[in-house]
Order: sequence, then structure tokens, then C-alpha cells
Amino acid sequence: MAAPTYTLPPLPYAYNALEPVISQQIMELHHKKHHQTYVNNLNQALSSQAKALQANDVPQLISIQQKIKFNGGGHINHSLFWKNLTPPGSAESNIDTAPTLKQAIINRWGSEKNFTDAFNAALLGIQGSGWGWLVSNGPNGKLDITTTKDQDPVTAPDVPIFGVDMWEHAYYLQYQNDKGSYVNGIWKVINWTVAENRYKNGVEGSAIMKAAI
Ligand SMILES: [Fe+2]
Repeated sequence: MAAPTYTLPPLPYAYNALEPVISQQIMELHHKKHHQTYVNNLNQALSSQAKALQANDVPQLISIQQKIKFNGGGHINHSLFWKNLTPPGSAESNIDTAPTLKQAIINRWGSEKNFTDAFNAALLGIQGSGWGWLVSNGPNGKLDITTTKDQDPVTAPDVPIFGVDMWEHAYYLQYQNDKGSYVNGIWKVINWTVAENRYKNGVEGSAIMKAAI
């Protein structure tokens, strides 16, 4: 059986649409270079895996797994990330477009501010490269804040509601070592409409991978 081939999904907005929070230069490099590389390496690893399977080459199959995990995770995480961002000032950037999720956040953390403070602390506590996530334990489930290392994706039963890329490539060209300003700014570009949909209906995570074939 031939290995599936994935392609880079287009951004749902222009490269300069997230300015001034995230610069056009970062968005172009991040999408066209970084994300594209994860897609290319995933395709290459899956092709190697298909050949190794056919040859019953178990040592080779084992050696490919980490490459699939890293690049497959990179593809999933970035695909989720682009969709859970939106231009600052757009209707979707207002948490009031996510009434069910907003109420669940207030129920869980007491207030929207308590939640964003806790999320910011989690983001700033990441050592090295990784991601911060708001997750739900299944659709309409218990909310939690979690982080994943490198390109590890959120796994079931957790549903990623939105993620924030905390790799240096996501902010360094614009914010240098001022990670705090990137973290504070990200709240202006969270797409609450997408977040509400993921919270109520589950995520498009597996669908992203299927749709890309
Ligand atoms: Fe990234």
C-alpha cells in the first residue's frame, strides 16, 4: 500500500493579517518554511515506512517511528494553530463569540483573567521548545491547561481547543528574548469561534490528517 502524501494547508488569512501581534516575516517563514519542512519530512518518513513494511524490515520500522512522531506532530500542531488564530480586532477574536466555552472557563477558573494568568504561566514555564494548550476531556468536557514538548501533539481523550506555539521560531524575530510580550499579545489573535466549535463538537485534528491525503 502506498504511503499517504500530505500537503501544506493554506493559511486561512493573509501573511500580514496577524500584525502587529505576529509579523508578516514570521508568518511567512513559519508557514512556508517550518511547517512545509514538517510536511516534507513526514511524507519522506511515511514512504520509508511503507518500504520497510513491505520488506519486513523491523529494525528500520522502529528507527522511523520518532521521525513520524516529530514531523507528524509538527504538521498536526501547526495546522491546528493557524486555524485557532485570527486577525486582531476581528469578530472571532472576541471571547463573546464563544459563550459556551467562556462559561466553562469561568466555571473552571473563576474568571477569564484567572484563566489567562494560568495559561500565561504555563506558556512561560515551558523549558525549551513546546506548545501550550487549552484542552477539554472530550467534547463539552472538563477543561485543563497542558503543555507538550517539542512537537508532541495533544492525544485522546483530550481535545485541543487552541494551542500556542512556544518554539523560538514563533516569536524570536519580532520579540527576541521578550517571550512575555508574545504571550500577552497572543490573546488578541485567538480565534474564539474556532475554539467554541472545537469545545462543543470535538476537534478537526484527525480530520486534518485525513483531509490532507
Ligand atoms: Fe512552529
